[in-house]
Amino acid sequence: MFRHDIIIVGGGLAGLRAAIAAKGADVAVISKVHPLRSHSVSAQGGINAALGKNDRWEDHAFDTIKGSDYLADQDAVEVLCRDAPERVIEMEHWGTLFSRVDGRIAQRPFGGAGFPRTAYAEDRTGHHLLHTMYEQSLRNDIRVYSEWLVTRLIVNEGRCAGVVGYNIAMGEIAGFQAKAVIFATGGYGRIYKRSTNSVINTGFGCAVAYRAGAALDDMEFVQFHPTTLYGTNILITEGARGEGGFLKNRNGERFMQRYSPNMLELAPRDIVARAIQTEINEGRGFEGGYVNLELMHLGEKNIKERLPGIRQISMDFANIDPVKKPIPVQPGQHYSMGGIASNKNCETSIAGFYACGECSCVSVHGANRLGGNSLLETIVFGKIAGENAKDYSSRVDYGETEIIERAVEGESKKISELSSRGEGEAVYTIRDELRAVMDEKVGIFRDGQNLKAASEKISELRDRFKNVRVRNKGKVFNQELVNVLELEGMLDVAQVISLGALARKESRGSHYRTDYPARDDKDWLRHTLAAFAPDGPRIDYKPVVITLYKPKAREY
Ligand code: FUM
Repeated sequence: MFRHDIIIVGGGLAGLRAAIAAKGADVAVISKVHPLRSHSVSAQGGINAALGKNDRWEDHAFDTIKGSDYLADQDAVEVLCRDAPERVIEMEHWGTLFSRVDGRIAQRPFGGAGFPRTAYAEDRTGHHLLHTMYEQSLRNDIRVYSEWLVTRLIVNEGRCAGVVGYNIAMGEIAGFQAKAVIFATGGYGRIYKRSTNSVINTGFGCAVAYRAGAALDDMEFVQFHPTTLYGTNILITEGARGEGGFLKNRNGERFMQRYSPNMLELAPRDIVARAIQTEINEGRGFEGGYVNLELMHLGEKNIKERLPGIRQISMDFANIDPVKKPIPVQPGQHYSMGGIASNKNCETSIAGFYACGECSCVSVHGANRLGGNSLLETIVFGKIAGENAKDYSSRVDYGETEIIERAVEGESKKISELSSRGEGEAVYTIRDELRAVMDEKVGIFRDGQNLKAASEKISELRDRFKNVRVRNKGKVFNQELVNVLELEGMLDVAQVISLGALARKESRGSHYRTDYPARDDKDWLRHTLAAFAPDGPRIDYKPVVITLYKPKAREY
């Protein structure tokens, strides 16, 4: 058994920032992959902060709240936007090489923003930030357990006592006793087929927390990024439109004029993604289902200086040089607005258990996140989670070690039963069917009939999962076993999303119901909460916190 005052699960930006903030306590990070392979590394376009002379944190907050379709908790948005400049400058002082204009950190326009407030490092902002954060974690001697999958959150009498981990490299199971645990495990994009997310983003952290008794919040709000590369769905940054890129349909029309006359390509993502999908559905897209993103007019010098990453991606994966030709793009799943229900202090309903980053729902993004706010959320709320866990852990003792031992026994039994099963269905067929149904029926456009059909399909897959087999009996890097363990969680998360979406009879932000196309503040200005029960989630609701800005119709 291992023992640390604070265990942080997840080695991306939020987890490492939490670890740095908790320094002074005995803190360790457990990560499924080496921290530098965390999904934070693939963030491209930038990070928002009101750094400009004519910008204010209140304007950033307004854009965020309006962009969220008024579902964000405004007390948490205040924290996010007030703290943004200090956190971004801190990253710069720690070593992040932001792009610069006239000696100052460069900022570009991004969707839904009334001011060019997205600071960037070319179009590899996540890469630069994560490397800086990792260097800082080395400087602070943060202990990291890499290649460990946390399979269970241990809770005793309402208090978090530690976790059980599966060592992927060695095939061993161990308990980690802790006074406080922080989850920073990322999103659940890979329950969809077309996604910009790395394959590690299965939502397993959310599922583990849910099974341990933490509620999941607003899971039906799934973000589809408007521009992913046709064919592979690799992210093509919103920064390309921020730099002046146009979207055109097969008739050569700049169609965003019809959907958002004021903001055009820089309307919030939910609006642009729906516009592109409408063009495709109504036959104005190109064969196969895409539209064009044109950058040629920006010129070779600008493209090479500001968008070198997406130029390389387009050349490597589509054989297209955006200096000369348009990039074929289509919407794809990109971000999880929902997550583990947590307040602005990153506290959950379980004492000593905290959540931050994409796995959490604080909620600063509400029904639709603005581009550039997710990197910001990781460093603002990562710090808060680390500080609060440190404070809590200084006031409590470790619990009884038998609780950890019993949990390890339970997990060992479960894993050895799974591994020794001779016959059964392959994990990949169930997973592929899950992803297909999520794309087809719980996507950009939803309706009651499709959502009901999706929920039924997910129930069928949950039944079939009981009979899943693991053919690989090896111990070292048994990825098939990892996939099986994670698939159970993916099915839980998918069930919560589809049932939450079925219950929410309105359209708000990313959740668009063709059978209920209007936003309904009277009945639905509230958060969805899902609590685990063996036969399916118990759904409940809680009010939205409104402080600064009363809900209004969203116009762009
Ligand atoms: O388009 C992008 O660069 C994505 C940014 C984000 O999701 O914040």
